[in-house]
Amino acid sequence: MLEIIEKKKFGQELTREEIAFFAQAAAEKSVPDYQLSALLMAIRLNGMTDQETTDLTLAMRDSGDIADLSGIPGIKVDKHSTGGVGDTTTLVLAPLVAACGAPVAKMSGRGLGHTGGTLDKLESIPGLSVALPVEDFIRQVKEIGVAVVGQTGHLAPADKTLYALRDVTSTVDSLPLIVSSILSKKLAAGSDAIVLDVKTGSGAIMHTLEDSLKLAQNMVRVGELAGKPIVALVSGMDQPLGTHVGNALEVKEAIDILAGRAGGDLLEVSLTLGGYMLHLAGKAETPEAGQAMMKQAIDSGAGLEKLKQMIAAQGGDPSVCDDVNRLPQAQVIRPVTCGVSGWVSKMNTMALGLAAQAMGAGRMKVDDELDYSVGFVLQVRIGDRVEAGTPLCVLHARSEENADRAEAAIRAAITIGQEACGRVPNFYAVVT
Ligand code: URA
Ligand code: CA
Repeated sequence: MLEIIEKKKFGQELTREEIAFFAQAAAEKSVPDYQLSALLMAIRLNGMTDQETTDLTLAMRDSGDIADLSGIPGIKVDKHSTGGVGDTTTLVLAPLVAACGAPVAKMSGRGLGHTGGTLDKLESIPGLSVALPVEDFIRQVKEIGVAVVGQTGHLAPADKTLYALRDVTSTVDSLPLIVSSILSKKLAAGSDAIVLDVKTGSGAIMHTLEDSLKLAQNMVRVGELAGKPIVALVSGMDQPLGTHVGNALEVKEAIDILAGRAGGDLLEVSLTLGGYMLHLAGKAETPEAGQAMMKQAIDSGAGLEKLKQMIAAQGGDPSVCDDVNRLPQAQVIRPVTCGVSGWVSKMNTMALGLAAQAMGAGRMKVDDELDYSVGFVLQVRIGDRVEAGTPLCVLHARSEENADRAEAAIRAAITIGQEACGRVPNFYAVVT
């Protein structure tokens, strides 16, 4: 291990064997944390070549089980987002893609820091379980075409060790370490192709477009070297994607979209990502044709019906799809009004995510229990004209004090300018 650290310290390229040794040592915890951490910092400072990043990704993938989805007929396309606020694309596109005939066997994650997680959102539906044994997971996808669950089996244990060390050694923000962390887990999840949604902006892991583009390009190159088709889209996180932020609130927005009652940026981004999924799955000639199929599945009600089937199959109460008031409801519901007239010019999306987390929508400590009902519904988007006294958002809080704190944080996170400004785009690039 010392020789490997020494080599990377001087910026030299590591061999496949050296990288495999490191990944295995991380998975088995057979070398001390301080040596793993020293190599992480050397990688953070000196980078890795595409070949090294690919070798690390594959070695981390091979450090544990690889899900076997071969029992599910068809091309399985996975989707992954680097994480955002009000970013509920999975709940919108998984049922739509499944309704259009492509199997969706999805392993999702929990909220992390200021970002929400699909599993937490799904668990706000009364009775629903995301902890399915792998046989049930596969049977459900074969029977109804869609399942969204927590990680099954022992996937990429090397990432578990390394991610925990990176969190406390200031080595999260390393391109090769992010790429290998995300892709090792996605490759171990067993799909045939992957659509990546790389977020950029104030609520994203990469704040600048340049860094987000590099991340997208790096992931696609590693996919090529690993023999797995990957399409990466760079999409905006300069404001929450949907209008609803908070677990049950985001489920409500997804249901409203599938029922044809709501639209906006969350719908647009979901259709775009889903269009690529249907195209990669061989169900649509072009991504645009895939989008048209998904719109049709909204109009016909097939998408909402698919969500109902999924909720029922996972033990949840599907009647939330007919009556969203059956989802958990907050005690205190009140607006946050705008102090001055002007134009919404900027949002600190991370601060908005942290405000929702502090209300109880996310965990502050690993064992915190969530309050599924809390969060807020934004009434404005960047570029909107606003008048003093009109609402910026509606809070859903557990108490008046809880609402007061959130109100102050949300006011501070939304900038009202005195000059008209443009809207921000949903997409910046597609990397194939
Ligand atoms: N998400 C991951 O799973 N890993 C990273 O390194 C960053 C985001
Ligand atoms: Ca290519």
